[in-house]
Amino acid sequence: MAANGIGGLEGPPKPPTAARTAPGNPGRSSSSLLEVDDLHVSYGRIRAVQGVSLTVPDAAVVALIGANGAGKSTLLRAISGIVRPHRGAVRYLGEDLVGLPVHQIVRRRVIHVPEGRGMLARMTVLENLRLGGFALKGAGHGKSDLERVFALFPVLRERRAQLAGSLSGGEQQILAIARAMMARPRLLMLDEPSLGLAPLLVREIFRIIPRLTAEGTAVLLVEQNARMALQCAVYAYVLQTGRVVLSGRAADLLAAPEVQHAYLGAG
Ligand SMILES: Nc1ncnc2c1ncn2[C@@H]1O[C@H](COP(=O)(O)OP(=O)(O)OP(=O)(O)O)[C@@H](O)[C@H]1O
Ligand SMILES: [Mg+2]
Repeated sequence: MAANGIGGLEGPPKPPTAARTAPGNPGRSSSSLLEVDDLHVSYGRIRAVQGVSLTVPDAAVVALIGANGAGKSTLLRAISGIVRPHRGAVRYLGEDLVGLPVHQIVRRRVIHVPEGRGMLARMTVLENLRLGGFALKGAGHGKSDLERVFALFPVLRERRAQLAGSLSGGEQQILAIARAMMARPRLLMLDEPSLGLAPLLVREIFRIIPRLTAEGTAVLLVEQNARMALQCAVYAYVLQTGRVVLSGRAADLLAAPEVQHAYLGAG
């Protein structure tokens, strides 16, 4: 159960078309895209994730917030197969991904944009985007994917021939998301996309994220900018030292005084 010192909120997220789920016993509902069930991940003796359960409905934005070291990035790494959990399940469209190699998870259109942008600085915008599509299918319908991505991110069309390393920080972050979109993700996991960006660019990133769901992509969004994350997500989970301490509709969390004090900087 959620060790939830914060009362008064409905937890956990209730997908619009799914049966209601309970903490530690997330949905067995068929409409959920992703169901993480009692996941435990350790680095040696460090228990980074300790029994996390969460649900991501199809084509929804779900936010994961929490302080430094709470285990947010580790959770994303476990879902994408970079680290292996020692207990628990990561059910994606009903299939447990635990133990699958990263490339097989990518092929299932679970795409992870890690902390830091990981652009190939000495390659152009266009080359970076093509690499994003390559991971999935080698060659093929690259051109229509490019058009789709340029329509979503017009600034990249203008900058297609520019070296990625010469883009501004915000443009690089947009390129990182665009590159992931080239793989046509069904589940896109973004780790701190607003990190280090000026407020105007932060708003631009958060304006883009909900639009991705129109393409049928669900977004699991890790953010320290809790306010922006809660504003753009439908559901949210608060992680504290490897555990979910609170979850629910993002709008409810945004309004909760306890969340405001702990995560939104309210006096
Ligand atoms: N490769 C690693 N080896 C050992 N310990 C690690 C490793 N990566 C993370 N940890 C530890 O696991 C815990 C969770 O780290 P994680 O990076 O998942 O947190 P986070 O919530 O993403 O934090 P931040 O907001 O600072 O990015 C921390 O105590 C961290 O020190
Ligand atoms: Mg992190």
